[in-house]
Amino acid sequence: MSTVPAPIDATSTPAWAALQKHYDELTGAGIDLKGWFAADPDRVSKLSYDMGEFHIDLSKNLVTDETMKLLVQLARELHIEERRDAMYSGVHINTSEDRAVLHTALRRPASDKGTVFDGDQDCVADVRDMLDRMYAFAEKVRSGEWKGVTGKKIEHVVSIGIGGSDLGPVMVYEALKPYADAGIDCRYISNIDPNDMAEKVRGLDPETTLVIVVSKTFTTLETLTNGREVRTWLLDALEAAGAIDGSEESRAEAVKKHFVAVSTALDLVADFGIDPENAFGFWNWVGGRYSVDSAVGLSLIIALGPERFECFLKGFHDVDMYFQNTPLEDNVVALMGLINVWYVNFFGAESHAVLPYNQYMHRFPAYLQQLTMESNGKGVRWDGSALTTASGEIYWGEPGTNGQHAFYQLIHQGTRLIPSDLIAFVNTANPNKDGDQDVHELFLGNFLAQTKALAFGKTADEVRAEGTPEEIVTARIFTGNRPSTSIFGIELTPHALGALIALYEHITFVEGTVWGIDSFDQWGVELGKQLAKQITPAFHDDEALAVQDASTKALIEFYRAHR
Ligand code: F6P
Repeated sequence: MSTVPAPIDATSTPAWAALQKHYDELTGAGIDLKGWFAADPDRVSKLSYDMGEFHIDLSKNLVTDETMKLLVQLARELHIEERRDAMYSGVHINTSEDRAVLHTALRRPASDKGTVFDGDQDCVADVRDMLDRMYAFAEKVRSGEWKGVTGKKIEHVVSIGIGGSDLGPVMVYEALKPYADAGIDCRYISNIDPNDMAEKVRGLDPETTLVIVVSKTFTTLETLTNGREVRTWLLDALEAAGAIDGSEESRAEAVKKHFVAVSTALDLVADFGIDPENAFGFWNWVGGRYSVDSAVGLSLIIALGPERFECFLKGFHDVDMYFQNTPLEDNVVALMGLINVWYVNFFGAESHAVLPYNQYMHRFPAYLQQLTMESNGKGVRWDGSALTTASGEIYWGEPGTNGQHAFYQLIHQGTRLIPSDLIAFVNTANPNKDGDQDVHELFLGNFLAQTKALAFGKTADEVRAEGTPEEIVTARIFTGNRPSTSIFGIELTPHALGALIALYEHITFVEGTVWGIDSFDQWGVELGKQLAKQITPAFHDDEALAVQDASTKALIEFYRAHR
């Protein structure tokens, strides 16, 4: 039985009514960032926050002192702090699955053993034990003590998973490449499209390849199919090279040396043929999209080493503590979530751009898409009642400056309001000069220029002053008042990346709580999975074809005619 209080309808709160009135007044008078900056010399200092190694500037958002005050009031009226504490302490706030939501326990230090329980389970003790096992295993792989079946050191890791069992590891691996120092290259297979596996195993030597099958449930069609395919590829190649014979024992021995698994369902891992000794577990209180810092990140521990993985975990934990211990008025994590609600529910914003000014972060927007949209893309609240507001921002983005030459046009001059988060770092892993010009400074100049252009725009008079012919003046006006948040870090380290992920996890939580959403289930992915099972036989089976709807039937007939 859940002890979670029913969600409060945000629209029924005094703060919501006050925010609506405030919005009407603000937009009635005209949003005017330039004017607001001029009128308040303290605006930047009031709306800038230091969160660990990050300096976060909210001043270019469409907010005033009054907006911030009312958003904090809303958070209090909706008991956001109480729900946060309930989450951290293991209350089953994932009501539809009756589960605790304890990703924060994954990054607690060993000294927190005995402080967080799910039933009888000491969560931190179990996390630290599993980390110790993974660290020992990873050290063996990194040092070459762990050998493939022919006695060769592992040089490649192929991690097979999808969704939360893939997006986090691949994003972090890409982001922290400068820290991958063991000479082990990781590749990630997720799609059931055979093209994905074909490209990822191309050129790999099976004798030096370790495969990690990652699946929380160990029932996911894509992952199990890819796992079997890669096993066949690896064993057949070893046999063809004469490295193993065709006997069951020798194939099983090769699987033991070349396959490990990560899952909450260790019995199913054994059924798949992977030695339970080579399996690393996690728990149903870790949601898939909140699991990169669990055993799901095993490939990262191998690539980066245990010490750096600990720094990564510390980055998460520092933000967890910041979010828990900072009063809402000063809590930039909570404030960013609340400002997002302000845009979605009062300005009618539909999407949110995330624009990392760091090429290593090129998978970060994709990672955030699952985190935010699988979490908050819901139409009912945690008690099953219908939502009373819009929910679920559409996250998207690409690294700057590439995006500047693609879709920024729409953000600057289009008809939609698109709040944007621009993320940059003071230092780069690859300093470089073009003549006398520091190239990283050229890059950072672009980051700053974009936030400035979005906020302050360019008036008709400024356009005219450049000698622009009158007939194209309007085309060259930038209205400004396009909101952005600048997230400026010192360097993209394992710690910083952990902190950034935790920031967005908690932003997602804040938004979900305002909307009354269980941000930790994902029933919306189920129907497609069921239908795929029912449709697939229809490619060959007339009876299965006959029961399909007219459109599906026609598409399958096209397939049959052309295959
Ligand atoms: O289909 C969605 C989903 O359930 C995600 O929530 C999850 O991250 C992904 O599939 C993979 O699931 P698993 O780790 O159980 O294979």
